[in-house]
Amino acid sequence: MTEIPDLNARELLEFYLAAGADALLGEEPVDRFAAVEAPPVAPRQPSERPAPAPTVTARPAATAAAVVAPDEAAMAARAAAKSAATLEELRAILEGFDGCALKATATRTVFADGNPQARVMLIGEAPGRDEDIEGLPFVGRSGKLLDQMLKSIGLDRTSVYIANIVPWRPPGNRTPTPQESAICLPFVLRQIELADPDILVCLGGPSAQTLLGIKDGITKTRGRWFTFDTGKREIKAIATFHPAFLLRSPLQKRFAWRDLLAIRKALSG
Ligand code: URA
Repeated sequence: MTEIPDLNARELLEFYLAAGADALLGEEPVDRFAAVEAPPVAPRQPSERPAPAPTVTARPAATAAAVVAPDEAAMAARAAAKSAATLEELRAILEGFDGCALKATATRTVFADGNPQARVMLIGEAPGRDEDIEGLPFVGRSGKLLDQMLKSIGLDRTSVYIANIVPWRPPGNRTPTPQESAICLPFVLRQIELADPDILVCLGGPSAQTLLGIKDGITKTRGRWFTFDTGKREIKAIATFHPAFLLRSPLQKRFAWRDLLAIRKALSG
């Protein structure tokens, strides 16, 4: 292989990082051009039995996820999530679940932070780089802003419980695909049911759309109260801007402030 001078190698890495390719998937580069075409599959003889359906099994972190159809993985996720009787059981089941390919590229399963007994539960979209390293949600720049937002209404991580729709970092912080969110959804729904908060706060559009079943964007949705059925009881739910969006669009903080005041009022009511 041609030797790449150091400076060029660094520039290339910087280019990859800027393009969002910041996750190492293997020790050796893969030459995709050298991949050979798979041989055609011979038609099955009538006497041959179909292959059994693939199953979703536990696997050690960082190995490839089992290749499972999204519907099948979502079904396995529903059954697995339902079988958890406590949050700790749910965490263990999630850590052993390999139906979502994101797990193969993530460093850690980011389950939750804060107080599971809290009256307020916040749900973000998916972990970013810092969260993936630390194994806790909202610890990076947007997490720092979230802490300030909570502080402004007298809350902190001892009085809220925080999770994400997707517990594994998508490579390069891309948005999780609808399939990935659908596979992870049963786990976060069970997490809400087991934590049993009084108020659910969706951080950002994807969280609101996934949990509240709405199509409208966050600008239209934020600040409105919804009823959320946890499976145990009906609770209040509200959506507000994601802190990462507020970092990029600080003028929108005035709307987030209104939402925070509404949450404070609901907690005192
Ligand atoms: N953004 C999210 O949606 N969740 C995190 O945990 C961090 C950033």
